[in-house]
Amino acid sequence: MARPSPVNMNSISKNRPSMRVWVKPSATFPPFAQPMVVSYFSLDQDRRFTPDTSQLRYMYLPREAEGLGWDLNHGLAKVQRSDHAKSIERIDNLLRGILASGLSVSQEVASFMCLRGLLTRIMTTPYEQNQGWEILVSRFRGVLFMCAQETPEQRRERMGATENQKRFSSWGFKFEQYITTDQPGCPPETEAPVKEGEEFCCLFRTKLSDRRLLYGAEMDAVTCDVPLEDCLEDLMLSEFVELKTSRKLTCVRQERNFKRFKLLNWWAQNFLVNVAHIICGFRDDRGIVEKLEFYKVEEIPKMAKDLWVPAVCMTFLDQFLNFVGRTVWDCPHSNDPNTVWRFRWEPGVHYVTGDVIPGSSQLSFLPDWFLSSVVA
Ligand code: A3P
Ligand code: MG
Ligand code: MG
Repeated sequence: MARPSPVNMNSISKNRPSMRVWVKPSATFPPFAQPMVVSYFSLDQDRRFTPDTSQLRYMYLPREAEGLGWDLNHGLAKVQRSDHAKSIERIDNLLRGILASGLSVSQEVASFMCLRGLLTRIMTTPYEQNQGWEILVSRFRGVLFMCAQETPEQRRERMGATENQKRFSSWGFKFEQYITTDQPGCPPETEAPVKEGEEFCCLFRTKLSDRRLLYGAEMDAVTCDVPLEDCLEDLMLSEFVELKTSRKLTCVRQERNFKRFKLLNWWAQNFLVNVAHIICGFRDDRGIVEKLEFYKVEEIPKMAKDLWVPAVCMTFLDQFLNFVGRTVWDCPHSNDPNTVWRFRWEPGVHYVTGDVIPGSSQLSFLPDWFLSSVVA
């Protein structure tokens, strides 16, 4: 990997490299190549991996976008949740996806590999006020694998989630059921229990500045009215759409917060995977969706003008990857794939800090089955 140049580096202490969380608002957008789909896979309700399109969903729009009356509580008693399984699986399914893709684990393919959600988190950090993060990094065959680690606060929140919070989360999945189908042309099956663990994922490859990135992302639905072949060519030519729910906006303050936080997240999440459109179901407090709104991802930054700047997000991601690369390069333990670098940030703190946990530890996240399956 090309040795990254120093950026915003500041040493709080010798053993704790740190990076300042600040990007000037006039920053220029770093070079970012159009992300391309290079592979795909499905996960069933038990998070079992198959290298196919079995969980691919097709968008199915209602005749009218208003007066829908979709009740997101419908069938809630039968919902099959999956938050515990998702919280413990780390990047195992991404690693399975990489092995199944036939791509080599090498810097020629990508110098960073991770899940898309992790990149979204980093991109939105300059504007984040509530949730901190922890990111683990290990090096194998010159590739830096990155994995989100649940922070103590996130764990407390997950363990202490109230029935109401669980219901709000399930509303988002129920909305997906109302507006997607597994057979193009066949209306959505809204009586079946929602299986929240099911996912269809694509692997994307792109280049940010001079670094190649490979990441996995869950894709909500494809906008196609004939069944796709189970092949990469069909998926590469397909258009995906992102599905969201949001409480309907009833005052200026809510509208401002929607633009400041939700639209920022939606833009970052979808920009990374070249998704052009988002469909949002606006719901009331009882979970009834009356109306759909359509958003063009490329128009979102204009809607949120003066609240956040896309170039700040992307520059921060660029600087963070530079910082991670430099920190790992500078470390004498970097040849052991069990060694973990841990990067942390908390809202209100102006620095990301890193530390290293050498050798095998509870934080090591590259499993033996992965390390031994990668052929030279
Ligand atoms: P909404 O987007 O409608 O809120 P995604 O939008 O990324 O495809 O995620 C699908 C749904 O998963 C979300 O629907 C939400 O219900 C749930 N979800 C995603 N991230 C979550 C989180 N951190 N906590 C709780 N629920 C979450
Ligand atoms: Mg999704
Ligand atoms: Mg969605």
